[in-house]
Amino acid sequence: MVEIAFAKLALPKSGALALLVAEGEKPSGLWEQADQATGGAISRALEAAEFTGGKGKTATLLAPGAGLSRVVAIGLGKPASLTASTLQEAGGTAAQALAREPVAAIAAANLTGAQAAEVGFGAQLRSYRFDRYRTKEKPSDKPRLARLTVLTGETGPAKAAWEAQAAIAHGVNLARDLVSEPANVLTPVAFADRCRALTELGVKVEVLGPKEMTKLGFGALMGVAQGSVQEPRVVVMQWNGGEGKKGKQKPLAFIGKGVTFDTGGISIKPAGGMEDMKWDMAGAGAVTGLMAALAGRKAKVDVVGIVGLVENMPSGSAQRPGDVVKSYSGQTIEVINTDAEGRLVLADVLWYCQQKFDPAFMVDLATLTGAIIIGLGHEYAGLYSNDDALATKLLAAGQATGEKLWRMPLDEAYDKQINSDIADMKNVGGRPGGSITGAQFIQRFVNGKPWAHLDIAGMAWSSKDSAITPKGATAFGVRLLDRLVAEGFEA
Ligand code: BES
Ligand code: MN
Ligand code: ZN
Repeated sequence: MVEIAFAKLALPKSGALALLVAEGEKPSGLWEQADQATGGAISRALEAAEFTGGKGKTATLLAPGAGLSRVVAIGLGKPASLTASTLQEAGGTAAQALAREPVAAIAAANLTGAQAAEVGFGAQLRSYRFDRYRTKEKPSDKPRLARLTVLTGETGPAKAAWEAQAAIAHGVNLARDLVSEPANVLTPVAFADRCRALTELGVKVEVLGPKEMTKLGFGALMGVAQGSVQEPRVVVMQWNGGEGKKGKQKPLAFIGKGVTFDTGGISIKPAGGMEDMKWDMAGAGAVTGLMAALAGRKAKVDVVGIVGLVENMPSGSAQRPGDVVKSYSGQTIEVINTDAEGRLVLADVLWYCQQKFDPAFMVDLATLTGAIIIGLGHEYAGLYSNDDALATKLLAAGQATGEKLWRMPLDEAYDKQINSDIADMKNVGGRPGGSITGAQFIQRFVNGKPWAHLDIAGMAWSSKDSAITPKGATAFGVRLLDRLVAEGFEA
């Protein structure tokens, strides 16, 4: 992992340097110094590359002199439209451009401490790599960047702002690790063990196994689990950082779908692309990463995170299409399609969350439906909510973090689609509005609480690099929900 540091604005005597340049900006300060020290090589190169600071544009100059191994100019775009996201993206682009350099610095004309921390945040997020199973990679093919120093006139404020950012980056990278792990490694039991490790951050962690869940009556979750030799787990993580009297404040609740592998069960999925279903626990991964982030930055708020962990397999003991199960809420469900398993898991976990914690609100995250990918592609996650105030806050957090949400409808008329002839409901509502009927199903397990459901099926994994997210697991939801908590609910 790249170590992010902060230091005073001074021209490095060696190593690589990234210069963040606004559109139309003229050389000054450190940029001018570097240019003079290299006999004008930098300005000549930027001119030849027609680099003018356009957002996301880069120009690279190798061995320009003055002891520098490489200078990379990175465009910030128009100064008036400079946002935290732009700074993060510039940091990410710099980390990628400097990945082959062991030591490097990033500078701009005058970054405030807070801005420098944003740059560092983007660099840290882009430098993530899941390489624990690569045993034969040549050292020359590996990234070498070990330490990246962001130069700023305000090192004190930068370091202070970085403390929280580093905790969030750790949460994001934890979620990415969980999502990237293959399903033979990350079983429900192994996932629960990784959650247990959060006790080191001060999180209270409790784990329910099959005996307790059967006794409680988690018939919907246990029905999914019964086809697998891997035992299910439900993990309850509590962070009590609120300043109120402990136990008096209603906690915020986040719930994640954690299907460690989804074959579809007896309603088995086609073979092509099935390997992707190792990341059907991305909702649970995001909740776990969020808890790590909140605890890591000592958020002043009481939060409970609950993940439902099961493997959905076909076998002689698997549930059959047509089976009727009784959920923890008491409502019965006709399981028409064993591949609509996420909602069965969430049904029991949501009910448990309300019974046990009486939360202020619940937000669940789930890679719930292929239908949301048809609707929104890989740009927005679907947001469903019974509470306009909560939905508004979530939409705003999405815009601020770039983890964007699009609100979808809930309606009686859709709800009818999941009525069953022989039970209280069925677990699928046909093809029309497939993501919506999934949300309607979950809503039947919301007992009058403010609630939001995020269908993140299109967002959990990315097939291409972006400025702050290398391809692979995105950890979608960690930054979004951390922001929701920070902006709306911290003391
Ligand atoms: N985990 C899948 C949803 C999914 C599909 C996530 C593709 C990511 C990519 C979920 O359990 C599922 O199988 N949903 C079914 C629901 C259907 C049977 C009503 C689906 O979307 O096909
Ligand atoms: Mn499924
Ligand atoms: Zn699934």
